[in-house]
Amino acid sequence: MKGRKINDNVCWVGAADWNRRLFDSLVPLPDGTSYNAYLVRGTEKTALIDTVDPAKSDLLLNQLDGIDRIDYIVAQHAEQDHSGSIPMLLGKYPDAKVVSTPKAQGMLLDLLGIPEKRVLTVEDGKTLSLGNKTLEFIYTPWVHWPETMCTYLPEDKILFSCDFFGSHLATTDLYVTNQAAVYEAAKRYYAEIMMPFRSIIRKNMEKVDAHDIKMIAPSHGPVYDQPGFILDAYRDWISDSVKNEVVLPYISMHGSTQKMTDYLADSLSERGVKVHIFDLTVTDIGKLAIALVDAATIVIGTPTVHIGPHPAVYYAAHLANVLRPKLRYASIIGSYGWSSKAIEQIAGLIPNLKVEILDPVLCRGYPQGETFAALDKLATMIADRHTKL
Ligand code: FEO
Repeated sequence: MKGRKINDNVCWVGAADWNRRLFDSLVPLPDGTSYNAYLVRGTEKTALIDTVDPAKSDLLLNQLDGIDRIDYIVAQHAEQDHSGSIPMLLGKYPDAKVVSTPKAQGMLLDLLGIPEKRVLTVEDGKTLSLGNKTLEFIYTPWVHWPETMCTYLPEDKILFSCDFFGSHLATTDLYVTNQAAVYEAAKRYYAEIMMPFRSIIRKNMEKVDAHDIKMIAPSHGPVYDQPGFILDAYRDWISDSVKNEVVLPYISMHGSTQKMTDYLADSLSERGVKVHIFDLTVTDIGKLAIALVDAATIVIGTPTVHIGPHPAVYYAAHLANVLRPKLRYASIIGSYGWSSKAIEQIAGLIPNLKVEILDPVLCRGYPQGETFAALDKLATMIADRHTKL
């Protein structure tokens, strides 16, 4: 067997995907990703925790070279980047059983055609003995899909967390060596797939916190040998507190909305408010999602196209709505040539955001004195609201 040793009984046998640039045909991967699988060997049984994306199954097979028997393949999550190589492994290891939650069992049957008799379902909190090692299963729903679970290895105090605490990073580092880089990638991961389920993630954190954890081994990105840093980061992201920050995604066609955006950003900055500006013609939506994790306010900037907002603004507003960040306030600024329903249409796109809408500013043509005064008023209102947070 090749792989990379974590201790005498636990080995990383995953695959890095250096060139992947999009996940789920949606999520940008500026730094590629990895699919982590872990082999856990007890005195009586051997378990493989998660597999790899089918595009990289040859790398997994190579890592398992010399492993003659696998008794359990733990499918912590049915999404194909972790489960997709299971059918191939069931052929290679004809006595192996897939271990999953009952909900995941149905998905594995539907998505991968795995025979039902090959799946052993486990209840929340139940254990499976490998001899001198034990696997404890902890249901952690919605750390992407509803069927997800983590696996705890008490003898070594290792939590295998699948997407939970994951980061899309292709790296040769087995462990976190650059906390700042992993923090950014893990925050992006949380923002894109877990933020909509913040209250459930909070309950999952309580279950995880009830365990003595020395190491977190996610199924994407490097292993946390100092897990306190990522646990503290998650506690911050899932908390109710918001920061004195404004997220300002915008589009401009002929410079009017650009001028308004720049003016508002300066006005907010003068009032001590941090602003994150995103030109939606070029922005990485992952960075927009990251900024939405903490900000108190979103201001959406748009020109008017056929009466409504620019289509890219529609997309950004819809994205903010589905990600359900803990924003408290929202507003809209923009411009038009002869008439506009942009404000009403954008407001209708964000029903999930439990925000107070602050006075929008809409300008006909290029902004002048009256518009700048309205933007200053909006900036003052935002700054005042933020001081009361
Ligand atoms: Fe890494 Fe939801 O799959």
